[in-house]
Amino acid sequence: MDKPKRIWKAMLTLLIAVLGALVCTLSSAPGVWAQIQGSVFVDCGSMASYVDGITNISWVPDAPQYITTGVNGYVPSAPSIYPNFSEFTTVRYFPDTRAKNCYSFPVMPNSTYLIRGTFFHGNYDNGATLPSFQMAIDGTIVAKVTFDNAAIFVYHEFMVASVSNVTFLCLLRDSSNSVPFISAISFSFLPADFFDSSVYAFLYGTRSIYFETKYRLNFGGDGLVRYPDDEFDRYWFPIQGSNSTFIQSTSPFQSLVARKTVGIYNGLSGSPPATVLDTALTSSGNRTITFPDDYSYLYILSFYYAELNSTANASSRNFYLEAPGTVGDYLLNPYSNGFDFVFNAIDMVLWDLLYTPGTEIVLYPDQTVSSPLGPIANALEFWQMSTNSMAPVTENQDAIAIEEIKSSMNLTDWTGDPCVPVPYPWVTCSTDSNFVPSITAL
Ligand SMILES: *[C@@H]1O[C@H](CO)[C@@H](O)[C@H](O)[C@H]1NC(C)=O
Ligand SMILES: *[C@@H]1O[C@H](CO)[C@@H](O)[C@H](O)[C@H]1NC(C)=O
Ligand SMILES: *[C@@H]1O[C@H](CO)[C@@H](O)[C@H](O)[C@H]1NC(C)=O
Ligand SMILES: *[C@@H]1O[C@H](CO)[C@@H](O)[C@H](O)[C@H]1NC(C)=O
Ligand SMILES: *[C@@H]1O[C@H](CO)[C@@H](O)[C@H](O)[C@H]1NC(C)=O
Ligand SMILES: *[C@@H]1O[C@H](CO)[C@@H](O)[C@H](O)[C@H]1NC(C)=O
Ligand SMILES: *[C@@H]1O[C@H](CO)[C@@H](O)[C@H](O)[C@H]1NC(C)=O
Ligand SMILES: *[C@@H]1O[C@H](CO)[C@@H](O)[C@H](O)[C@H]1NC(C)=O
Ligand SMILES: *[C@@H]1O[C@H](CO)[C@@H](O)[C@H](O)[C@H]1NC(C)=O
Repeated sequence: MDKPKRIWKAMLTLLIAVLGALVCTLSSAPGVWAQIQGSVFVDCGSMASYVDGITNISWVPDAPQYITTGVNGYVPSAPSIYPNFSEFTTVRYFPDTRAKNCYSFPVMPNSTYLIRGTFFHGNYDNGATLPSFQMAIDGTIVAKVTFDNAAIFVYHEFMVASVSNVTFLCLLRDSSNSVPFISAISFSFLPADFFDSSVYAFLYGTRSIYFETKYRLNFGGDGLVRYPDDEFDRYWFPIQGSNSTFIQSTSPFQSLVARKTVGIYNGLSGSPPATVLDTALTSSGNRTITFPDDYSYLYILSFYYAELNSTANASSRNFYLEAPGTVGDYLLNPYSNGFDFVFNAIDMVLWDLLYTPGTEIVLYPDQTVSSPLGPIANALEFWQMSTNSMAPVTENQDAIAIEEIKSSMNLTDWTGDPCVPVPYPWVTCSTDSNFVPSITAL
């Protein structure tokens, strides 16, 4: 509508026509551009595809299929620190001064994806200081990536809905101006039936906000559970006995292990894997579950419980789950419910469950009936809900025009959305953040 844009569009059309005549072939489409409908595990900086001998994950290299910028780096200490994470041996880092470097993933539009970036620094650069930078999905900055220790990996995992047929994962420099890097990306399509009967259904219903995985806990577990037990390679962290960061009880914990849940919930996609559900912690009396975060956010809890005591009966275990902000406490009986899962994310309470530092989730026996066995906890997922919607991406027509210019001028190293979260230096975008960005000048 506005004048500058029309002029720009006319110039653009001319430019494309001229360039189109000059450029003969564009061999820029590397590899297969098949829309992701399962999981893609990308080992950043790797030179070749391989199957990991321990996890059995099929890793693919990141370049040139998903990214064309950055440099391969090598982390000699990775195998000794994380023997089961072959993907930590290499990184891709971005010493160029571009404001953003983006991976492009071909997706099904309007579908839900679980996207994880994993970062193991391992002193790959022999640098004096650890970097900090930002991670964005499409036009939204979703995480600050910082490190306390070069020898401990960090990850940021999100559930988002795709808006077009490509989703960008970008790394951006922050004010420290240090060099961004990344070790691995897991990109999983979550099929619609994933959402039917799990907490994920609530996430699916809300297309414009996004969710970050905060904690995935495997009570009574022993070692990190991931692929192949979990087909999406979700990380389930073990909690053994009293772990003051996450679970406390005034009486000692007992650990329960049983091959019980295999097969029961085959039909429930998205539930924790059987390896996770088959271990639990119990104790008599009250139990509190806490989290170490020192800031406030909206959360969704998914609490999983299953009876693993083979001598239990319908009156062995009656307990309540109490979470701040819920309308009432949930009465749970794993025997009579069969294996079930509970999430305090029922319609009216979904939106305003506020985590504040010190928030406690209490499991306590039902005092009104005899309950010889104490509360049981098998697994838990804790999500942070975004307070804002995903930022709108550049108007489709403009984005397509920019793609054509890039192709014809061999500017394919400029990836990501042309305007958000930061524009390419050679375009000018409308700046009102509440509206769909459009390009006003080149
Ligand atoms: C590894 O994966 C392949 C196919 O992806 C499968 O055929 C094989 O059984 C798996 N091996 C193990 C040990 O899980
Ligand atoms: C690595 O994986 C193997 C096989 O699954 C397991 O036995 C071992 O405990 C794991 N090591 C670590 C450090 O997690
Ligand atoms: C996107 O998917 C949601 C959930 O299935 C659906 O309600 C919505 O109509 C879809 N939007 C478009 C534009 O297809
Ligand atoms: C994505 O959609 C655009 C049109 O909106 C089309 O030009 C492009 O070929 C599509 N890409 C893929 C990988 O389907
Ligand atoms: C508590 O559990 C977390 C996650 O598994 C683990 O990193 C931490 O070391 C545990 N802390 C204690 C005191 O066991
Ligand atoms: C256990 O928790 C319930 C619910 O918060 C509370 O009413 C009860 O007093 C607690 N019991 C003890 C012994 O702390
Ligand atoms: C299992 O249940 C029985 C009673 O049914 C009880 O005596 C035993 O302590 C329970 N075991 C655990 C680990 O909770
Ligand atoms: C059920 O199990 C509890 C112990 O878990 C026991 O005290 C009780 O007698 C049992 N009831 C029946 C009807 O078997
Ligand atoms: C495009 O640029 C790449 C390096 O960035 C170069 O290898 C290639 O030859 C260029 N292609 C054309 C058509 O200019």
